[in-house]
Amino acid sequence: MPMQQQTSPIGRDTVRVDGPKKVTGLAQYTSDFHFPGMLYAVPVGATIAKGNITQLDTSAAETMPGVRAILHRGNIGKIFRSIPGPGFSGICEERRPPFEDDVIRYYGQYIALAVAETFATAKAAADAVSATYATEKPNVELQLVADEEPDEVMTTFGPMKRVESERGDAEAAFASAPVKLDHTYITPFETHNPMEPHSTTAIWEGSTLTLYESSQGVVNLRSVLAQMFGLPIENVRVITKFVGSGFGSKLWPWTLCPLAAAAARQVGAPVRLVLARKMMFHAVGHRPRTQQRVRLGATKEGKLLSLQHDYVYTRSMLDAHHEGCGEGTPFQYSVPNLRVTFGRTKRNIGGGADMRGPGRVPGLYAVESAINELARELNMDPVQLRVINEPQIDESRGLPFSSRHMLECLQLGAEKFGWSKRTSAVGSMKRDGLTLGWGVAACSWIASRFAAAAYIQLRDDGSCRVASATQDIGTGTYTNLAQLASEKTGVPLNKVEVALGDTALPEGPISGGSMATPSLVNAVFAAAEQAIESLKTVAVSTPGSRFVGHQPDDLRFDNGALFLNAEGPANQVPFVDLLRQANLRMVSGNGQSPSRFGEEKAKFSTQSFGCHFVEVTWHSEIARLRVSRVVSVIDAGKIINTLAGRNQIQGAVVMGVGMALLESTEYDPQNGAPINSSLADYLVAVNADSPSIDVHFLDYPDKEINQVGARGIGEIGLAGIAAAITDAVHHATGVRVRELPVRIEDLLA
Ligand code: MOS
Repeated sequence: MPMQQQTSPIGRDTVRVDGPKKVTGLAQYTSDFHFPGMLYAVPVGATIAKGNITQLDTSAAETMPGVRAILHRGNIGKIFRSIPGPGFSGICEERRPPFEDDVIRYYGQYIALAVAETFATAKAAADAVSATYATEKPNVELQLVADEEPDEVMTTFGPMKRVESERGDAEAAFASAPVKLDHTYITPFETHNPMEPHSTTAIWEGSTLTLYESSQGVVNLRSVLAQMFGLPIENVRVITKFVGSGFGSKLWPWTLCPLAAAAARQVGAPVRLVLARKMMFHAVGHRPRTQQRVRLGATKEGKLLSLQHDYVYTRSMLDAHHEGCGEGTPFQYSVPNLRVTFGRTKRNIGGGADMRGPGRVPGLYAVESAINELARELNMDPVQLRVINEPQIDESRGLPFSSRHMLECLQLGAEKFGWSKRTSAVGSMKRDGLTLGWGVAACSWIASRFAAAAYIQLRDDGSCRVASATQDIGTGTYTNLAQLASEKTGVPLNKVEVALGDTALPEGPISGGSMATPSLVNAVFAAAEQAIESLKTVAVSTPGSRFVGHQPDDLRFDNGALFLNAEGPANQVPFVDLLRQANLRMVSGNGQSPSRFGEEKAKFSTQSFGCHFVEVTWHSEIARLRVSRVVSVIDAGKIINTLAGRNQIQGAVVMGVGMALLESTEYDPQNGAPINSSLADYLVAVNADSPSIDVHFLDYPDKEINQVGARGIGEIGLAGIAAAITDAVHHATGVRVRELPVRIEDLLA
């Protein structure tokens, strides 16, 4: 008789396993941890963006009651520079250790740190520190011209050729193309604004350091701190139980971590440092400003002949964050002649950082906008233009895609959206007295894997524990791991305990690049398989077990129970019964999965794909623009949790509304300060700005990535959406905006 199969927990709508903890307040975020004798630290930021400190007066602050220390360059003690190396990630976004010199390179750069018994005292002491500067005029110029640099430059990605990708003769093909388009697209400085600000608490016990941190990568942070404080790696522990999101700003450590650790070292007590919202605009990253020239050459029928994408982005004075806008360009479309180049230019602004969909999100905004403009030029449907330029392979690498279903995305999206009802003339579509604009764009995001390890226990109370030193930044990693463990062990979701966010656990991936989940699948499965192997050994060797006399290989584990291959599940024994019979509390297993980067010769180009269809409404009499409706179709392999998956895409679309219409960090040209450094002045899209968002996933497992076939979904939803929105704005208003965000004044022409 066939066994009653438990429905797989993979690929279903699954409510977050950590949801109850979050809504009841039991979830502990970094600043929810309290320690006896803990002190509070508040940084002092420079109030100039370029120059030197000529004098720092800490005397008033030092004598305030309750102040325990004012750290500055003269007394902070030794901190080493962190350097990435083999087997030692050690990536720190701002390489310069805190207070290394008296040179000010950006507004808000930390120049001192007040440590006191209460937060209020620390804040007052920080305010009482006064600095005298030799001030120079900062460079926060918005017009971007690439700095003079060699053909190959050093970036956070390692050495990079500035001609990023090239095939055919793009210039000649452009010159002779019957239809040409040449436009420049600009994306502004954007600031990550996670709900939870950066926060860190450092605790020393002898020569061991424990850091509670709001981090997207505890394992890397441990490496960085070990380097900066000259400690063996096993003397450092980093704990991150819950994160109020990060959007990339918490991927790599910033100087607040070593600052807190140095302060705790000096005062001999735990020290907590939580950034104020204003400080979130200074020294914890931003999306660099980009200026991207796109040239397209095509036949009159719309076949692309040439694609040139030349972009410039901003960087800080010392660091080399690479904003790879051209990363997705070489394989987005079929085109025989292509050239992608980049340049960069230094500004007196804190270090740039990855922000959700780094590089490709601003990059695809430009390329997809150009494609939409070309469609308009050709009087062609923009969906059709994409269809006829769909590539068969990744033409930049000469490799097939592991799984690319862009055409199906476009077809399904068009159908769900009702695209066939579109009339293309500007301002031609109306509803309820409003002018409608419809737009579309395609998107893509890298699919790959980091190295990952995981640990699983099967326990005698019928529960299972799965653990990995990765973290859940709000994306659903706790739930995904519970689903993966449940899939392999048959333990129901509500009996799976998930442990994350602690470097004492097996090394897990960063929560970045949309790769945490795809990296963990094989590691969790391997750990479960090892635990099951142990269970089989127990089964054949425990006196009284019905499997005594057989070999482990004679047994099969399915759905939480063991049975003889020869018999089938008729006489199965649940693992709980075996453990009890053997008087064992548990069996356990470890699993590893290697990184997919630098794999010998890749056989496939692995990417996720998708598209967005967007409707805006334009009320011209009162200049009111709204994104009213979005249909997104995403081809990201197997979706492990379809509920959390749709949430990811919806959240990204909302962020895309912000990117297209609201977000921009403005720097004062006089003193270099970010002017709109609050959530009242830096606008992000909120519920009131959110359209109806209809998300569909294609469901083609990509076995190149892992056994489930799951690629990542954290970032792809933000790619392309701004281009779809600006094209919809053009369709409604006739105004083509090529600099984000679209401002109402742009539409009042
Ligand atoms: Mo994402 S920008 O890799 O956190």
